[in-house]
Amino acid sequence: MNNIILCGFMGCGKSTIGRKLAARTGMTFVDMDRYIEEKQGMTVSEIFERYGEERFRELETEACRELAETSGTIIAAGGGTLTFQRNIDILKSTGRIILVEVSYENLCERLKYDKKRPLLQVEDRNAVIRELLDKRLPVYRAAASVYVDGNFSSSRVAENIIRILL
Ligand code: S3P
Repeated sequence: MNNIILCGFMGCGKSTIGRKLAARTGMTFVDMDRYIEEKQGMTVSEIFERYGEERFRELETEACRELAETSGTIIAAGGGTLTFQRNIDILKSTGRIILVEVSYENLCERLKYDKKRPLLQVEDRNAVIRELLDKRLPVYRAAASVYVDGNFSSSRVAENIIRILL
């Protein structure tokens, strides 16, 4: 029950912030996408390509279950993880969910050159960001118990999280 789960849209900085938090607190950092990739021996893009998004979502829930068994872990969830009630239920029972909120404009800027996220490899990337963000933000907000403004440097956001949690 003492884990920290970082939640937020793709590009909000969950992984960078998580690593900084781990360095500051001595907790263990786990990036959920990397965890799935290592277990499957392929990248998230390859999983989407070969088996489809639905399979990826199953693997994501499996990862939630496994990581929920750990303690003292900072978990950077994927941007879609906490849009599924089953994952929210699992992760909520294992620690505090912190939402890192970043504006639409900043997300578009940060994700401009992304090549790794399958959902963004489309012609009108900003339209997809807009649509997903509008759909997901209320769900993230309902799942999280702590909110931080992510429109700053990752160091500053990590400091703010530490201040809130201490
Ligand atoms: C996804 C976000 C990605 C990754 C996958 C799907 C999403 O994680 O899990 O590409 O649905 O928003 P990041 O938020 O770490 O980019």
